[in-house]
Amino acid sequence: MPTIASPLTLPCGTILKNRIAKAAMSENMADHSHNPGPQFERLYSKWAHGGCGLVISGNIMIDSRALGEPHNVVVEKTNTNEASLKRWAIAAKANQTQLWAQLNHPGKQTPRVLSRDPVAPSAIPYPAPMNVMFATPRELQETEILDIISRFAYAAETLKNCGFSGIQIHGAHGYLVSQFLSPHHNHRTDDWGGTLEGRIRFALEIYRAIRTKVGPNFPIGIKLNSADFMRGGFSEEESMQVVDILSKAGIDLIEISGGTYEAPVMMGKSSKLKKSTQKREAYFLEYCEKVSQLIKTPLMLTGGFRTRKAMDAALNSGACHVIGLARSLATNYNFPNELLADENCQSKIYQLTTGFKSLDKFFPLEITWYTDQLHRMGRGQNPKPNANVKLAVLKSLCSFGIGGLKNLSRSKEI
Ligand SMILES: Cc1cc2nc3c(=O)[nH]c(=O)nc-3n(C[C@H](O)[C@H](O)[C@H](O)COP(=O)(O)O)c2cc1C
Repeated sequence: MPTIASPLTLPCGTILKNRIAKAAMSENMADHSHNPGPQFERLYSKWAHGGCGLVISGNIMIDSRALGEPHNVVVEKTNTNEASLKRWAIAAKANQTQLWAQLNHPGKQTPRVLSRDPVAPSAIPYPAPMNVMFATPRELQETEILDIISRFAYAAETLKNCGFSGIQIHGAHGYLVSQFLSPHHNHRTDDWGGTLEGRIRFALEIYRAIRTKVGPNFPIGIKLNSADFMRGGFSEEESMQVVDILSKAGIDLIEISGGTYEAPVMMGKSSKLKKSTQKREAYFLEYCEKVSQLIKTPLMLTGGFRTRKAMDAALNSGACHVIGLARSLATNYNFPNELLADENCQSKIYQLTTGFKSLDKFFPLEITWYTDQLHRMGRGQNPKPNANVKLAVLKSLCSFGIGGLKNLSRSKEI
């Protein structure tokens, strides 16, 4: 019976030393040229020594014109400082840790302050109040789709050359790959839309282009939604078909999450998630129990895990093969070592509030507050579980305001 301590061999032959993975958390901490500085080495060295078998980076963008946050790392032909990526990889791979780069394009989910020209499979606006933050995108032309695919492949090859040990495609949470998969966001009538066969083509072509560049022995994973949790969106049935197709295509690890900015169920916070699911650990466990029957590819399950008991139970049942942890590792980078040493170990849950209900509802507090914890570790400090929530909100607003202005003036120059 596998436990969190058991090693795992992936289809490409790579061995994870245990079943605990740090899920992607966007650092929003790169310099003004979107390169990672020494903060990344300090932060990732902590996680490497904290005991994870696999550490997945925060989303790395493949086009500096399309950002999710002002200080995302970007890997593209014109922009990349390979020396800084190499130093990051060395620090993160200490202690036999696998370091995978999560590659992303936000599509229409790019804040107005960061992008003059948001693109998406189709020109469908967000409903209120999301439309305050995100502008209506324009539909991508086919030549642009092909360019984005080649950018994913270029970034993957560069990161491999810089010492990263694997790649994860971000296909979840309402970003571009997930927009292509969704019948709500993708109304295209060409070969990139329509039936599921058309909508999955973008994800498949990205996978194939990366595989061609990195070869058969290099791990490639994808993060997918179990569902979008919105009417007319990507459903659980379609998600299972996508998992099956990607598994047959040869992908090495499929991480299961769910939701989008419109329905942030990935954090267990949305009213779209059943009350019983919100209370339970592992929000997407039921989905994994079903989909694991269909495929042989290892599954990583992320979202809501807090106790070693629940982690081992999920692994024992065969529902998943790797446990993904995010917020627990932002407040305690040593949590994997503690889990491995103590069967009764569990992480603390922090109830975040600014004291203003309407602000709590509108503002992505979880992202803001936990990002602040990552920044502390990047500066060489320890996480601070009693950090002030309002201050974190203020810092985030400043970062988006100043970062957004700088970005817009840069894109004007281009
Ligand atoms: C600060 C922060 C940043 C995140 N950034 C990303 C990201 O870049 N890519 C991604 O796939 N998920 C991202 N997530 C979602 C996590 O990977 C994970 O799916 C979610 O937090 C649920 O797991 P948890 O309950 O262990 O926190 C982020 C979460 C947090 C808290």
